[in-house]
Amino acid sequence: MKSLLCGSRRFLVFALFSALLLSACSADAPRVALADLDFSLADPGSGEKLFNQSNNESPACSACHSLTGESSGIGNSLGDLAAVAGARVKGQSAEEYLYWSILRPGQHLVTGYANLMYSRYEDSLERADLADLIAYLLTLD
Ligand code: HEC
Repeated sequence: MKSLLCGSRRFLVFALFSALLLSACSADAPRVALADLDFSLADPGSGEKLFNQSNNESPACSACHSLTGESSGIGNSLGDLAAVAGARVKGQSAEEYLYWSILRPGQHLVTGYANLMYSRYEDSLERADLADLIAYLLTLD
């Protein structure tokens, strides 16, 4: 009887822990899923504008990223991004890597750079904005 009780209590703890873990994971999932981005409708021209301006009070990407090959001091130059994006993280396509780089910048850090990227773009960029930005980034090579 005792061991049965212990077993079920252990199971309860395990179940609670799993539920906590699951809710923590889904709380961290971006508001817009990658699968919801429609790249066939994406407009790189509009992405370029978004890159260079502050949107809904978030800082412009160009505040930290140059395209010249020289770092601006905070972020790396994104001048050859399209050429490297698909090889940054094993198993991630270029689109996937860019999606995560924008919405969860701390997940993968470019070698030699600190986790200093603005991390709330999720709040300021709408679904179409994200697709436009990624389409634009994929033109940089
Ligand atoms: C406050 C400064 C800052 C702002 C603003 C910023 N970034 Fe970054 N970004 C960084 C830093 C620092 C890194 C390098 C560390 C890392 O990988 O997160 C980085 C990395 C990246 C990378 C990975 C580059 C690579 O070579 O693999 C991408 C892509 C990127 N940023 C896109 C953007 C876009 C798009 C925006 C605007 C929506 C933006 N960043 C705004 C600082 C910034």
